[in-house]
Amino acid sequence: MVFNLFPRSKQLQEAQDIRARLPQSGPVCIFLTGVTGFVGGAIAAALADTENFKEMLFLVRAQSAAEGAQRVRQSLARFTPPGVPPPLVLERQVIVADLNDADAFSDPRLDAVSHVIHSAAVTSFADRPDIWTVNVDATMRLAERFSEVARLRRFVYVGTAMACGVARGAIVTETLRLPLEHAHLVPYTASKARAENQLRERFPELPLVSVRPSIIVGHSSLGCKPSASIFWLLKVVSQLNRFVCPPSAYLDIVPVDYCASTIVTLTLKPTLAFPVYHISAGPGGSSMVGELLQALQGMEGGAQGRPYERVTEAALKQMAQSFGATARGTVNTRMLHKALTLYGRFSRLNYIFDQRRILSEGLPPAPSFLDYLGRCHRSAQALPLREQMACDFK
Ligand SMILES: NC(=O)c1ccc[n+]([C@@H]2O[C@H](COP(=O)([O-])OP(=O)(O)OC[C@H]3O[C@@H](n4cnc5c(N)ncnc54)[C@H](OP(=O)(O)O)[C@@H]3O)[C@@H](O)[C@H]2O)c1
Repeated sequence: MVFNLFPRSKQLQEAQDIRARLPQSGPVCIFLTGVTGFVGGAIAAALADTENFKEMLFLVRAQSAAEGAQRVRQSLARFTPPGVPPPLVLERQVIVADLNDADAFSDPRLDAVSHVIHSAAVTSFADRPDIWTVNVDATMRLAERFSEVARLRRFVYVGTAMACGVARGAIVTETLRLPLEHAHLVPYTASKARAENQLRERFPELPLVSVRPSIIVGHSSLGCKPSASIFWLLKVVSQLNRFVCPPSAYLDIVPVDYCASTIVTLTLKPTLAFPVYHISAGPGGSSMVGELLQALQGMEGGAQGRPYERVTEAALKQMAQSFGATARGTVNTRMLHKALTLYGRFSRLNYIFDQRRILSEGLPPAPSFLDYLGRCHRSAQALPLREQMACDFK
């Protein structure tokens, strides 16, 4: 069913008519939201060496364009190898705005945009009202604004594979319509599902492509230098050697650089066969929990021959407390308990996300997490656990 809640304005009709006549080539101007985040930063880094970079526009929260450009540079610096300076970002490339602002997209520079990559989101697992105002309401305002941009050739919405909800088989394929509130473990995935559904329902003429990454951990060559998001939790579980999922459960993990380069290719490829793509490791590249923990224990010298033990969720509180006690107060045990509980529920889903659509577009498969796990381990070694955890508790 299509709910056309926004009246078709004359401007919108003109934009569609012009778009229909526009060649699918011409000047490329990419507008990126979320550039200061893990995925958005990697997307900008993937574009940094291309001729399109200097024409890119970035929506950034800041007090001024100068501060905004500085934030973009800092974000890009996380993805440059040691000793290599981050690319130049000019103030004219920065649109200072908060997605919650009603006029966030009023800047006339947006009329020149040919490709949108909407990566910004509130990614917290907590029940926060801004999950809905940013992830859903602001996304609709963004789509409404770009429905009226005649030059627009593609609108890429960065969703999440976990927006598929809880009641799917072991291998999840891409469905267009996503389940809503009650089918989700956290409000965040429910908000992503609602946003994606509403984009399709309200803006059927938008050149929309949804990309749904699976679990993103580290960078295939820089390890956890850009972010230790989720990696720290795997390390804690490997040290505890006890968790709520069976060791045979699969985790579909991709590195952020693979995710970013896939998004860039899908953004710029003139034609695509599908409206939705998983960005995932798939059956060939996903790793079993037991294998991952063994590999980590081999690097850390943990477990000392103890076999892995599957526990119930009720045991996690005491596990977090005893881990906190051995970490001598350097870890927030309440947060650790929460993280173990929520990520434990996701791990029990045992999902592998079908990646055949990506392969059918001629894109390479994702590297296996086991192939770059060592790099993640080495790069995170010097970082205190508290700082690593901060990547997931903003
Ligand atoms: N990381 C994963 O494992 C994963 C997996 C699947 C899908 N995804 C999807 O990938 C996308 C990016 O995730 P991420 O991991 O990069 O998230 P992240 O590191 O938490 O970054 C979020 C980005 O959104 C921006 N943002 C949040 N609220 C905003 C607002 N009100 N106004 C303007 N900007 C705002 C943040 O800006 P500030 O720096 O100003 O806060 C930041 O740039 C999300 O759509 C997420 O659903 C991520």
